[in-house]
Order: sequence, then C-alpha cells, then structure tokens
Amino acid sequence: MIMDDNNLQDYELSGITPDHHLDLGDLPSGSNLFILLKNALDRLRQEQILEVQSSNPHIKGDLQSWCRLHQHTFMMALDAGNHYRYLIRKDRIHTTEQPDWGVKVPLRKGKHLDIRDWFEGRIGQVMEQAPAYIGFVPRGAVAETGIPDFRFPLNKKDHVWADNVLDLYEQAKENQWNATIDIPWDQLPELPEAMEWAVCQIMTFLAENEYSALYIPAKFMARIDPHYIEVLMYLSTLVQDESRHIEAFMKRALANGGGLQYSSTLTERSLHSLFIQEDYFKSSFLLHVLGEGTFLDLLNFIEEHAPDPVTAKIVNLAKIDEGRHVAYGIGHVRHILSRHPNMVQQLIEAAEERNEYLSEAGTGENTHLLEALAILSGGGRSPEQLKVGFARVKKLKEVMYDHRIQRMLQIGVDMSTAEKISQSHTPNFM
Ligand SMILES: [Fe+2]
Ligand SMILES: [Fe+2]
Repeated sequence: MIMDDNNLQDYELSGITPDHHLDLGDLPSGSNLFILLKNALDRLRQEQILEVQSSNPHIKGDLQSWCRLHQHTFMMALDAGNHYRYLIRKDRIHTTEQPDWGVKVPLRKGKHLDIRDWFEGRIGQVMEQAPAYIGFVPRGAVAETGIPDFRFPLNKKDHVWADNVLDLYEQAKENQWNATIDIPWDQLPELPEAMEWAVCQIMTFLAENEYSALYIPAKFMARIDPHYIEVLMYLSTLVQDESRHIEAFMKRALANGGGLQYSSTLTERSLHSLFIQEDYFKSSFLLHVLGEGTFLDLLNFIEEHAPDPVTAKIVNLAKIDEGRHVAYGIGHVRHILSRHPNMVQQLIEAAEERNEYLSEAGTGENTHLLEALAILSGGGRSPEQLKVGFARVKKLKEVMYDHRIQRMLQIGVDMSTAEKISQSHTPNFM
C-alpha cells in the first residue's frame, strides 16, 4: 500500500498504527536529519512503520529520495495543519539482532561491580568460536554489516581461555603495587661488598628474565580476538606486573652503590627460545607453567636469604604477582588438556624443541648467577660460606625439579612425562 498526499482523515481511516514516532521539529533537510531517520529505522524490526513529524514544509522530496536510496518504502505524507506527518515502512534490514535493553548487572556484596558478574544477556554469550567480521565491536553490541575481517588468529575459546581468568583479573587489580613508594628504599643498609655484588647480580638476572615475561604475552595480545576481552584485560595486568618487576629489580641493583652486573649467553639463548615460540598453547606452558613456576621457587629462595628488607620486600611482592601468572598458565593448559588430552604431545614437543635449541650451543650454566646465589644463601664469599651456599643452591634445584613435576600433574600430565619434561628444563630456570 503506497499512498501519497492524502489528508489527515484518510491516514486515520487507513487503520495504520505506526510502531514508532520521530519528531524532527523544524530541522532542515541535511545530514543530521538523516542520521536521526536512519537510527530510528535501525531500532525497528522489518516491516514496522515509522511516523516522522516535521514542521518544515520542504523535506518531503528529500525523504522520498532517501527512502528509495536506502530501500525503505515512503508510504504517505499528510498535512496536519501546523505540521506534516510522513509514514515510512522499514523494508531493508542490516541485521536481525537487537541490542539488549533492561540488563542490570548485580552488585557484589551490594557494593562492587565485579567483572565476574557481567555475564548477563548478550555480553554473557561467550562463543567457542569468535564471530567473524566483528572487529572491535564489544561483545554484546549489535554490529552493522560491512565491518572488515580483522582476522585475529587466536579466535577460539580454547586458544586462550582459562576458567580462573576472571578471578585472577580481579585479584590482579587488588594487588597492584608501586615500585617507587611501596618499597622501604630508606631502610637499605650498607652491605659487605661481596653480598651487595651478589644482590646486584641476582637483580640483573631477574630483570633480564622479566624482559621476556613482558615481551612474550605482549606479543600475543594483539593476536587474541576481542570476543575474549577478559583474557586481554587479565594479560594487560600481567604485562604491567612484569614492567613493575623490571623497574623494581633494576632499581635495587642501583640503589645501594652497586649496579647492573653480568648477563650470560645461556640466559639470552634460553629467553630467545621462549620468545620465538609462536604457538600460544606451547608458549603458555613453557613460560607460565615451567618458567615462571620455577621462578616462584627462585624468588622464595631469594626472599628467604635476602640480606636486607628492601630486597626481601621486592621479591615478596613479585612472588605474589608471579603466583597469578603461573595460575593462569596452569588454568589455560588444564582447560585445553581436559578437552583435548592428545594435545599433551605438543607440550612434550615444545619442551624437546627447546632443549635441542639450547643444546646446540653446548649446555652450561649462568656461572655468575650461581655464584651470587651461593654467596646470598651462604652468607658471604669465604670458602666455608660458599660451600654452604652451593649446597643450598643444589637443594634449590631439587625443589624446583619436584615442583615442576607437581605443576604438570596439576594440569593433567602423567608422571613419567612430567619427569621427562622437568629433567630437560632449561638450566636458566626461565
Ligand atoms: Fe615477573
Ligand atoms: Fe610473570
């Protein structure tokens, strides 16, 4: 039914009830008018009718042309005395979806808006496969057609998800600290030179390893589909943690008259072998489960033997952060192995490939680091102290070995595989 130039009486007699009204006042024909018209039609379902009211007598022709161009039906125009009324039927639809309205996320303990509670309505629909052609459209919003395909390679839930990622994100925000003001820098005593050197050498080593822990998740972040935005939010806290660890460790090396010390080729080769891993599953396992897991034991050891409250505090705070990073790795790898048990083969492969790469240059250890750990834990550089210290370092390596196995058992790896992987782990710890 297409009518034109009827009078008001005919319109009411025609029995048409518009579904929505748009009052344009005396708005002149132009882009603003068409923005309002387009948006009003977007909110309608197909074949619903929009009544446009206007006191401007000159827009009728433009409305008709716009409707032809955009494939909607201009049904009729009516002179209502002091204004005009136009009826437009929505014919062409961009999308059958409608955004949510009326969704109210509950407050946790009646007070806090927690991300764990926002899985309501459309935003709560986390798909196994991220929809294509949706770019950066927030999950839950309605997208127009014609959005380019951003082609995020990590676009499946299994690629990145961990069941504990939401808890970890909330914890991470609560536990942020500031390396400038939360460390008791004014309580740094003068230490014997050998001990200060040991601390500076250890801080150099820690900072160097933290660079890789910063770069590797950051490298992957831009490959993750925004459909899994919670994972990106969590990883952004992890990246901030690593940046703060680098800052704190480097500051400690500089704060007491020492300075940054030696870096070993073994450490750099070990970190390079992590950095070139392009598979997120393998990388999570090597970095978060094995590397940072082993670092938890190292940080524990340094905290236990720290010669001053500043070193102890820094390492303690970093250890709490690392606990979350390891928990994400365990959560993610366990999530995948519970669904695809055969993928354990990829973990073995990843560990073997890395071991081969490291063996190519001949094994070896970071000798400066080992001496520094022996001085730290033996209490000094005398032969007697070094003997005690080296024995403690040996014990530390055994604890690291056992704990790596325990973490692998947690993610669902069997005992003999876990032993094999733990044995072949890098002598660099990370
Ligand atoms: Fe770290
Ligand atoms: Fe970390």
